[in-house]
Amino acid sequence: MPAIFQTIYQELCQTLFRQSGFTAAAEPFLRQLIPAHRAGLYRARILSITPQAGCLRLRLKVSRRFPAFVAGQHLQLHVELNGRLLERTFSICSAEQRLSELRELELAVQIQPQGRFTGALPGTLCPGMYVHLSRPVGDFCFERQLPAYLIAAGSGVTPLFSMLSSISRLTQPMTFIYSFRGQTRQLFAMEWAALQAKFPLLRLVLWDSEKQGRLTPERLLGELQADLQAHFYLCGPQQFTVDFSSALLNAGVAKAAIRSESFGIVVPPNGEIQPVVLQLGQQSHQLGGHGSLLQRAEQTGLTVPYGCRRGVCMQCLCEKNSGVVRNLLTGELSDAGPGRIQLCVSEAVSPVTVKSVEISA
Ligand code: FES
Repeated sequence: MPAIFQTIYQELCQTLFRQSGFTAAAEPFLRQLIPAHRAGLYRARILSITPQAGCLRLRLKVSRRFPAFVAGQHLQLHVELNGRLLERTFSICSAEQRLSELRELELAVQIQPQGRFTGALPGTLCPGMYVHLSRPVGDFCFERQLPAYLIAAGSGVTPLFSMLSSISRLTQPMTFIYSFRGQTRQLFAMEWAALQAKFPLLRLVLWDSEKQGRLTPERLLGELQADLQAHFYLCGPQQFTVDFSSALLNAGVAKAAIRSESFGIVVPPNGEIQPVVLQLGQQSHQLGGHGSLLQRAEQTGLTVPYGCRRGVCMQCLCEKNSGVVRNLLTGELSDAGPGRIQLCVSEAVSPVTVKSVEISA
């Protein structure tokens, strides 16, 4: 639709229904008719649930409507918990072919026992139940350029496992390095041997940091066998990807040959805590605590919407009125004027005032 008609359509819907589109306005009525309907989402049936390495491996059956994905991409899992539809972002860990051939995909959901979402899943989900999924997104994808190194720490193994499983034939060497803490924390424990047998050119390094010590950038460089012309895919906690990317760059690997994705934002503890005022509806709150603005809001006892907590889903988007924030993913500083920011990846570096009409205390 041309931009002008799009604008007129949105204005009209805003005036008539106080919604951005007709679909959003019709959503409550559709839900009355079809209780399982969720606009913009895809229904998926749970085929099996397997606890493994502190995760729940969810095997899901999706309909023909569910779009294709590229190995490495993630999606949002939506589950109704205590009458509220909550969602979190997870990487797909199964092969692309399993979707195209069987209409199945798999997620490995790491359980945080205290977490509002993942902590409630073990007592809520059961085979046969339906959940909802967003479309797969993300540009952390395997380019199929070889030789390649896939290097994962902890649950960062999930997108890389999908990349490896999606390869049909390996014609050049590939190294997969997976660091985990203790045998009980090793994901996909039953699958590694089969993958090794399928791909003779695969060098699989299963690094048990409980026995072998922490996989440091120096140790990684020792594993590289001087192959600095390869392509590198890194996934793990943010500090892991930052440290390993720097080590590879310093060793002479081209920046374009390194792709990384991380989870968990690490906020450096140094630096002065800046005053932040968060306006929720009609009320203003002075934020205490430290860390990202989302963490500070939570430490202050406020409830604000969030999804992925890593700058992907935009659910924590709100309006900054003034002040400078640092983007914790890119290190970029905002300007001091008004602008939109994501609370989960923003840290105040000057006094900040921010407001959201969407969020509620
Ligand atoms: S919670 Fe997803 S972008 Fe902030």
